[in-house]
Amino acid sequence: MVKIAPSILSANFATMGEAVKEIARDGADLIHVDVMDGVFVPNLTFGFKMIKDIKPLTNVPLDVHLMITEPERYIDEFIKSGADILTIHYEAVKTDIVSVLKKIRELGAKSAISIKPDTDVSVLKEFLPYVDMILLMSVYPGFGGQKFIEESVERAKQISLMIKESGFDIDFEIDGGITEENVRRVKDAGVNVIVAGSTVFKAKDKKVAISSLRNN
Ligand code: DX5
Ligand code: ZN
Repeated sequence: MVKIAPSILSANFATMGEAVKEIARDGADLIHVDVMDGVFVPNLTFGFKMIKDIKPLTNVPLDVHLMITEPERYIDEFIKSGADILTIHYEAVKTDIVSVLKKIRELGAKSAISIKPDTDVSVLKEFLPYVDMILLMSVYPGFGGQKFIEESVERAKQISLMIKESGFDIDFEIDGGITEENVRRVKDAGVNVIVAGSTVFKAKDKKVAISSLRNN
């Protein structure tokens, strides 16, 4: 089953609550929440206070993407605040990644790991037993509205094969530059969770954008 995860990075932060309720009403399967610290990526967004504040507004699960250095410092706080899926970056953890992933699950959230466009896909292999989802970045993390990196399709195929061969039940999410035009190709490459920021938030009708991402 394909899931659509609109990214609230592209929403107006001054009316975030309304944006969350709107995309939930318009058929979002997950709400993608981009946390940036200005260190791991050259941009800043918000932290657990935002997650805590939007949590009561919707039953749609919060898919929290941590683009912060040493995410292991804040795992408890993000899960306590309401993260349902918590994604850490392979490149950001300074301690033992497996322990961080195990901790996420122990605290009751789904665990996920992400790699940037220039990290070799093979690094993911050892984490497959410990993750509920893999997130492949198809742009350099930091900003919405960037152009999809074409090589991501090939990388997605490799990851999807790796997941299939492992026998584990792992969701596969792609993030960055997804449009109604390229979504079919990433689905064909094995992706089942689609993040979309500008495609949803710039659309005249968000409901139509979400359903075309689902059906294209
Ligand atoms: C980028 C973020 C993405 C971003 C995607 O670093 O991780 O989630 O919101 O935005 P679009 O879909 O516009 O590329
Ligand atoms: Zn993201």
